Amino acid sequence: MSVKSSGQFSSRIGFIMAAAGSAVGVGNIWGFPTQAASHGGGAFLLVYVLLIIVLGYPMLMAELMVGRHGQSNPADAMGKLGSTSKSRNIGKAIGFISIVTATLICTFYSILSGWFISFAAAPIAEVMGQPTIANWMTDFSVSRNLVFTVIFMALVVFVIRQGVQKGIERWSKRLMPFLLLMLIAGAIYILTQAGAMEGVKALLIPDFSRVTDPDVLVGALGQTFFSLSVGTGAMMVYGAYLNQQENIGKLTAYVTLTDTTVAFLAALMVIPAMYVAQHNGVQIFADDGSLLNSDTLVFTVLPALFDSIGGISQYVLAMVFFTLMAIAGLTSAISIVEVPTSYIVEKTTINRNKASLLVSAVITILASVIVFNFDALFGLIITLTTERAQPLIALGIAIFMGWVWHRDGLLSAIAQQDGVDENSFFWRVWPTYVKFICPLLISVIIVQLFFG
Ligand code: PFF
Repeated sequence: MSVKSSGQFSSRIGFIMAAAGSAVGVGNIWGFPTQAASHGGGAFLLVYVLLIIVLGYPMLMAELMVGRHGQSNPADAMGKLGSTSKSRNIGKAIGFISIVTATLICTFYSILSGWFISFAAAPIAEVMGQPTIANWMTDFSVSRNLVFTVIFMALVVFVIRQGVQKGIERWSKRLMPFLLLMLIAGAIYILTQAGAMEGVKALLIPDFSRVTDPDVLVGALGQTFFSLSVGTGAMMVYGAYLNQQENIGKLTAYVTLTDTTVAFLAALMVIPAMYVAQHNGVQIFADDGSLLNSDTLVFTVLPALFDSIGGISQYVLAMVFFTLMAIAGLTSAISIVEVPTSYIVEKTTINRNKASLLVSAVITILASVIVFNFDALFGLIITLTTERAQPLIALGIAIFMGWVWHRDGLLSAIAQQDGVDENSFFWRVWPTYVKFICPLLISVIIVQLFFG
């Protein structure tokens, strides 16, 4: 059974919304500001934006192209690029590793998204005069984490069972614009508060001495691929839903731009909010200048921001904001669950509904193991998947697309797209760029990790 059995995107805007829905998520609002705050603010932002342009955008295009060409799950899509049985098997292995990586990413992702749901529910409990429940919802206990992780995964299953067009597209299309508006309003509001300017400076003025810091480089590379969902097979699966005529260069540009704008707006809201909170007596930094509790930073800073608004509107705004965030997490998690699901559906006789249920059950069990061993596992899995596996898989994809995929095949895939002149500068340069420059850049940064 082909991946098509679950449907194609009904429209171009539907695809953009769904791919942007995969890209925009907890990584933008939780990950990016936290990473920027702990890696020197402006220096991180500068390196990140550069990496998005020189690696994120071309590699996202590569993944979509490979997925559309393969019209199948990531393992087979990668395998189909090879012309010998050896290269096919290596391709399949890389694709398979991306499926495992996606599954592991979804474990910590569901915990994080669960936090957003509980922070959306807490103001309701508060308004209903249930402070004990509200406190439990915001206290990061094992029981709270467990309950909301399960709730989040149940929501994922619920949406996925409605299929691609009805489920993913509809949700993404309706809700993304709201999220953008709230971020803009939040950023504008926080900038009027005392202490905010220090945060704006921290975010916008780079300390150039940190730009070549291996920690900053490796962190920004991981964040680039994580934020664009590259190196997990998610975009290959979405590429398989795309018809051959769509211009991938343009679609990818929209997705990349949306994702980067949301990350930037989130940082413009969260980082000044950190300094405002500090100004109001909340401890954000340790004595050595490092961040206290970076995992939960956003959950200290944003509630403090809403508190400062006061009145009933603080509860409404907090609820709406955290709900939108949970939904952004949902559209991303859906794209992750699609990765192993597409593999199971195509490789076994298990149907789509059962496969997504099975995948979600496995993810929920693994996430529960992390919840019970939070200190040991949470950060470890994040580092292993986003900073190690995703860049290595992206390296594999670049090498395969550049060196293994027969040039004629790639060129004809490019030429089939509507409105594309395959002899234009852009389309002549991109394959060569992915062949030589992308592997080189990724390798240089990975080497920094081990020897820097
Ligand atoms: N890009 C998502 C985010 O920034 O929150 C996370 C993500 C989604 C990573 C899908 C990987 C993936 F396959």
